[in-house]
Amino acid sequence: MCTISIAIQKGGSGKTTTTVNLAAALQRMGKNILLIDADPQANLSQSFGIEEEPVNNLYTELKKEMSGEDGELRNAIVEIRPGLSVVPSSIELAGAEMELVGVYSREHILRILIEPLVSKYDFIFIDCPHAIGLLTVNALVASDHVLMPLPGEFLPLKGVHSFMRHFEMVKKKLNNRINLLGFVLTRFDERKLMNLRVREALSELHENKVFNTSIRSNIQLAKAQEAGTDIFQFDKHSHGAQDYQLLAEEFLTRLTPSQAPPVETNDQYEKLLN
Ligand SMILES: Nc1ncnc2c1ncn2[C@@H]1O[C@H](COP(=O)(O)OP(=O)(O)OP(=O)(O)O)[C@@H](O)[C@H]1O
Ligand SMILES: [Mg+2]
Repeated sequence: MCTISIAIQKGGSGKTTTTVNLAAALQRMGKNILLIDADPQANLSQSFGIEEEPVNNLYTELKKEMSGEDGELRNAIVEIRPGLSVVPSSIELAGAEMELVGVYSREHILRILIEPLVSKYDFIFIDCPHAIGLLTVNALVASDHVLMPLPGEFLPLKGVHSFMRHFEMVKKKLNNRINLLGFVLTRFDERKLMNLRVREALSELHENKVFNTSIRSNIQLAKAQEAGTDIFQFDKHSHGAQDYQLLAEEFLTRLTPSQAPPVETNDQYEKLLN
C-alpha cells in the first residue's frame, strides 16, 4: 500500500543491506513485500541468490514503457518465498539513464510501471543506485517515502546534504506527496566518537527523523549477503538480525502519518560541514 525508496548519494552506505533485511523482517511479521532492484550493480538481486539475469527484469519493462509499449513489472517478479518477491535488475539498467533522457515523461516511467502493483503489496521498496540520475529520480517520483541509511561518518553526511537538495526539488516539482521517513545509522559503533557525533548532528538538523534503532557493525550481515540470503535465514541470533527486527518495528510505528517537519536549509549544513 505504500512505496519507499532506499536512497542516499553515497556508495556502500548500507542501502541494499537495509532493503534486504528490513524487508525480510517485515515479511516475517506477516507483511507482503515487493522489492525493486533499481541499481545496475544488481546487488539486491544477488543478495537473494538471483545470479543469472532473468529474461524479464526491470530494464526490459522500462524499455517497453520507454518505447511506447506497455511494460508490465508483474512479468519480471521473482518470488523468493511467500510474502517476499523481487523485481531483479540488469546490467543494461546502466544504459537506461541515457535512454531515459529523450523519453516523454521520463521521470514518471517507473511510477507508471509500479502503479498497478501498489494495491497488491503492503510495502514496495526500491533499492536505488548511489548516483542521483534519472533512475533515482524515477524511484523518488514513484515513492511515498524515502529512507536513508548511512554510516556515522563525515563523508556520508555530505551525501545527505547533497541528496536533500535533490529530494526537495523532486518534492517541489515532481512528487509533492513524498515524505522523508528518516535516517538509519548503519555499521554503528557507539564506542566511536565520530558515529555519536554524526548521529547527534543529524538529529539536530532533522528533528525526529533519525531512527532510534541503529544497525551495529556485524560481519554476519556481509556474510549473509555473500551467501545470497537475508540475515534471518543466515543467522537469526546475530546482532544484525536483532537490529533489523527492531528497525522493522520502529519503521511500522513511524509510518503513521502526521509528521512533516520542515527540511533544513543549506546554511545549517554548511555550518555543520565547515
Ligand atoms: N551493519 C553492517 N555491518 C557490517 N557490514 C555491513 C553492514 N551493513 C552493510 N555492510 C556491508 O557493507 C557493504 C556495503 O553495503 P551495501 O551493499 O548495503 O551498501 P549500498 O549502499 O547498497 O552500496 P552501493 O551504493 O554500492 O549500492 C556490503 O559488503 C555489506 O555487506
Ligand atoms: Mg546497493
